[in-house]
Amino acid sequence: MSSLSWHISLQVFLMLVCIKECMLMPDPHQRDLMLKQELSQQVGGRVELTPAEQHLDTLLYQLKVKEMAISPFPPAKHFFKVRHVIQKSPVFKLLQKMPKGAALHIHSSALVSADWLVLNATYRPHCYICFMWEGSVRFLFSARTPFPRLGCSFWSRLDTLRAGLSDVTAFDNSLMRNLTLFTDDSETAYPTQDAAWKRFEEIFVALSGLVTYAPVFKDYIYQGLKELYDDNIMYLELRVGQSRAYELDGTVHDKAWSLEVYRNITEQFRENHPDFIGSRVIYSIHRSLSVSTVKQAVQEAIEMQRKYPDILAGFDLVGREDTGGSIWYFREALSLPSELKKNLPFFFHAGETDLDGTEVDRNVVDALLFNTSRIGHGFALVHHPLAKELARTRGVAVELCPISNQVLKLVSDLRNHPAGVLISDGHPIVVSSDDPTLFGTTGLSYDFYEVFVGIGGLSANLGTLKELAMNSIRYSSLSSQLKDKAMMLWQEKWNKFIAENSKS
Ligand SMILES: *[C@@H]1O[C@H](CO)[C@@H](O)[C@H](O)[C@H]1NC(C)=O
Ligand SMILES: *[C@@H]1O[C@H](CO)[C@@H](O)[C@H](O)[C@H]1NC(C)=O
Ligand SMILES: *[C@@H]1O[C@H](CO)[C@@H](O)[C@H](O)[C@H]1NC(C)=O
Ligand SMILES: *[C@@H]1O[C@H](CO)[C@@H](O)[C@H](O)[C@H]1NC(C)=O
Ligand SMILES: [Zn+2]
Repeated sequence: MSSLSWHISLQVFLMLVCIKECMLMPDPHQRDLMLKQELSQQVGGRVELTPAEQHLDTLLYQLKVKEMAISPFPPAKHFFKVRHVIQKSPVFKLLQKMPKGAALHIHSSALVSADWLVLNATYRPHCYICFMWEGSVRFLFSARTPFPRLGCSFWSRLDTLRAGLSDVTAFDNSLMRNLTLFTDDSETAYPTQDAAWKRFEEIFVALSGLVTYAPVFKDYIYQGLKELYDDNIMYLELRVGQSRAYELDGTVHDKAWSLEVYRNITEQFRENHPDFIGSRVIYSIHRSLSVSTVKQAVQEAIEMQRKYPDILAGFDLVGREDTGGSIWYFREALSLPSELKKNLPFFFHAGETDLDGTEVDRNVVDALLFNTSRIGHGFALVHHPLAKELARTRGVAVELCPISNQVLKLVSDLRNHPAGVLISDGHPIVVSSDDPTLFGTTGLSYDFYEVFVGIGGLSANLGTLKELAMNSIRYSSLSSQLKDKAMMLWQEKWNKFIAENSKS
């Protein structure tokens, strides 16, 4: 039922009630009906639960009521302050075990935990480090000592450097801090959106020398898939930027090489984990670049899509929306596929902003005018009723990444996240993690926790979780045949999860 026709039927009902027994106190049946109707409208509101599922739903409800009594309430606090509390939460532990379907919004250079990067990648031979004057670091693998670079004095080989240190663990911890935003004191470290974004972009530069070294790159992707798989995720769509992989002798591979590696490593991972569906790539370019550069990237993406249709899902613009070019600014570049009559699906970041009414804020409208397949973040979507309605009727899902929005300071208490409106309104939504390395998360369980306990409140139930997981397959870029296969596999895992957890 559309919201309009349901509105009319409610009015007719109210009139009938009033003719029968017009009392001054509101009719409790009418109240019940209204509450039930509202609940049925939310995400997962029409999912019919089996008796076993109802049992688990009741259990989850009780756990959530207890969770809400915790002071401070974790979703009301900055994630960095409460991660250790969330880790102990019984709701969180259940969410970890839950088959969550797919991760549809993650960036390739922030896929793997900082621990692995430091303890594995930087321990390989030929790894050099350079300490920048402003306090960050750069890495490079090289057969000989690299030439000095701008902003830092000299390169040191890490194995030699570590050999001379008395406290290697403390040093390694400091390197981890260089590769993540995670800190005990986020208020001081990132007082404003500008400060948070500045560090954010800087970390990507620090990461690049590590993860684009060809041998690390391969193991890194494998490790990324493993971290997702261990969190009960079966499929990934990864935003991949323009950086190219390099070898020890300085040889640089082309971008097609990286795509092939994504495909090959995914295949290798699937051989070892047959219940993993796979991964696809969304070709991305930074929105701080010029129209002509973006145009060239669109052309490249069209070409890559022709050559690697199985691995390349589409195209996106990345980087901070508030300071980069808007979708409308790039309209000439983005019209290229339709002009050339080529199919290049778009997966735009849009509305990751609180600048209501500005050109930036119009990205959600423009993303839809460019027929985007999904909307990254869509934090501003609730300010655009027409765009919101259009997205719903076209089945354009919002990729909700709550921890990212909180760390990048769009919202502090996650109970106030605008996606709460989308959830109660049954809007198509998927949950994702954006940049696990930088936010100190692995998998999707932390973001699911914030959505389920914080944004969704006490009304979000097992039906909501089930629909969110199914949405991630439904709104993926997989072919309908692969979607069916993924959905069947997911259902099997779900049944097992319900059977194992609905007893107690
Ligand atoms: C890093 O991980 C890879 C792949 O799991 C493993 O083969 C390698 O031995 C590890 N290297 C170090 C230095 O831990
Ligand atoms: C990065 O690592 C260096 C070297 O250990 C350290 O001096 C610096 O404080 C670290 N930076 C951050 C942001 O933690
Ligand atoms: C990917 O695998 C294919 C088939 O095994 C191989 O020919 C190709 O060289 C691999 N590509 C890369 C970049 O490793
Ligand atoms: C979006 O899709 C509509 C309907 O299929 C089509 O008419 C329009 O040209 C498309 N717009 C762009 C920019 O691709
Ligand atoms: Zn993103």
